[in-house]
Amino acid sequence: MSNNNIQIFDTTLRDGEQVPGCKLNSEQKVVIAEQLDTLGVDVIEAGFPVSSPGDFKSVEAISKIVKNATVCGLTRAVENDIKVAAESLRFANKPRIHTGIGTSESHILHKFKSNRDAIIERAFEAVKYAKSFVEDVEFYAEDAGRTDNEYLARVCEAAIKAGATVLNIPDTTGYCLPSEYGAKIKYLKENVKGIEKAILSCHCHNDLGLATANSIEGVINGARQIECTINGIGERAGNTALEEVVMVLKQHPYLNLDTNINTSMLYGMSQLVSDSMGIYTQPNKAIVGANAFAHSSGIHQDGVIKNRATYEIIDPKDVGVTESAIVLTARSGRAALAYRAKNVGYELTKLQLDDVYANFLSFADRKKEINDNDIHQIIETSNVYQQIISA
Ligand code: KIV
Ligand code: ZN
Repeated sequence: MSNNNIQIFDTTLRDGEQVPGCKLNSEQKVVIAEQLDTLGVDVIEAGFPVSSPGDFKSVEAISKIVKNATVCGLTRAVENDIKVAAESLRFANKPRIHTGIGTSESHILHKFKSNRDAIIERAFEAVKYAKSFVEDVEFYAEDAGRTDNEYLARVCEAAIKAGATVLNIPDTTGYCLPSEYGAKIKYLKENVKGIEKAILSCHCHNDLGLATANSIEGVINGARQIECTINGIGERAGNTALEEVVMVLKQHPYLNLDTNINTSMLYGMSQLVSDSMGIYTQPNKAIVGANAFAHSSGIHQDGVIKNRATYEIIDPKDVGVTESAIVLTARSGRAALAYRAKNVGYELTKLQLDDVYANFLSFADRKKEINDNDIHQIIETSNVYQQIISA
């Protein structure tokens, strides 16, 4: 792995599946895991094995079929969780145990009714125990986003001493600003003893809509793994969207940070997850939403027809979308109408277009969107129809 390669850790099947009402069965999870492996993700977090017999079975089944990616199971800093996770991962080519504990004052005082030193001790013991089963152990400091950096550095040092290979710095509540999250990663890079033995991982939630920005700031400041989900699904406002961080890095090559993702699979992957979970993707969702490459206002349509890049920073084919869409509404202009008419077989002269356009506007004022059938009808009922077909 080059030092500029960002590992993509997909947690669609664990954190993503925590969306209320979107539970997947084991067969569905296996299908998604196979596709994630082909997509090129580096790590698949397959579940939280101790949480239910069904989750254990899914992690086990995924471990058997995944060929390239590391398969990871989540645990708390609890011996039985770790033992059960190790068992569920026993068939994986590359198993990883992801263990950890809350480190913010709120978690230490209210959730654990404990103190800072005792939490460090638990972190150390959990990683050490996980290491007795697998070589690759990732440690998470839950609510690291609201944990003070000095204490967080002490926790990370203990995890590294116990053998952690990856340190996950979750902004569990999606609270951080990008500058704060970036500074946190930089601080850890510069102040944790032994940091060269592990990589830092960004795990950002989207409560303030900042998950993608925070993850990108994280890798700019030295993290080398991003934890994310397809379509950004997850509890509350969700997780970092895989397709967004991958395309940010691809579209900004001067950052010199790349991933192993086959981006032409992104749209298909988004549809698979959305269909399997029965969770609809908002039309304006970046990269994979139905309108991400659709143009409907006259000015934009004219620009895109002349040169796609006028209003598109991504070639739709790069993410698996066949082509940009020129959507006809009452806000569309002549250029868009001529373009769509040509697609369905009518080559209009300027004068014919003027006449057909007047007819189009009266249709479009009555209908939200004009489809191909409507275009035929608009042309057939225009004054110049005979002229058009006899040309
Ligand atoms: O958001 C979070 O803190 C998590 C951890 C359990 C990794 O999902
Ligand atoms: Zn999370």
